[in-house]
Amino acid sequence: MENKRLFLLPFLQDILHNEDFQSLRRYTHHGTTTCYHHTLEVAWLVYRLAVALKLDYVAATRGALLHDFFMYNWRTGGPRLHGFRHPRIALNNASKHFVLSPKEKDSILRHMWPLTPLPPRYPESWIVTVADKIVSTMDYFRFVKSKLVFMYNTIHTCMWLPLLSRFNRQKQYS
Ligand SMILES: [Fe+2]
Ligand SMILES: [Fe+2]
Repeated sequence: MENKRLFLLPFLQDILHNEDFQSLRRYTHHGTTTCYHHTLEVAWLVYRLAVALKLDYVAATRGALLHDFFMYNWRTGGPRLHGFRHPRIALNNASKHFVLSPKEKDSILRHMWPLTPLPPRYPESWIVTVADKIVSTMDYFRFVKSKLVFMYNTIHTCMWLPLLSRFNRQKQYS
């Protein structure tokens, strides 16, 4: 996976090797992906966009990695109104472990805009917001695609099984 290259970037090492950040592997996020893989994908897209647009790629990529830094499965637990509240929860968690710049804080706190009222303040936080929506949409498409493939395979098997058993019976009696 391309986002493995994030592990080569020196300014992300403290986050990537943080125990709580690694625990995000345990929490399912959109569809079948985990918070961990989702944030890596967002961060990789943000890093490339920030470099291409000559923005502060360090702040943008760190903000992207921490934008969903909440340790619960929001479909089975966590606070009510997760969609509105998790940016603040992620910011509080991130602030416990890391010293955050204003751009990093803004990227985390405002990434859910327009669901939350205040739009991002910096170009770096804007690209985190946009990249998060792109990756989230792709997460759901992958999930729907896997369901469709499963349904197709099930229907296909159900169609062929009776024919196969008839063929076997014919073979037995011929
Ligand atoms: Fe989020
Ligand atoms: Fe996200």
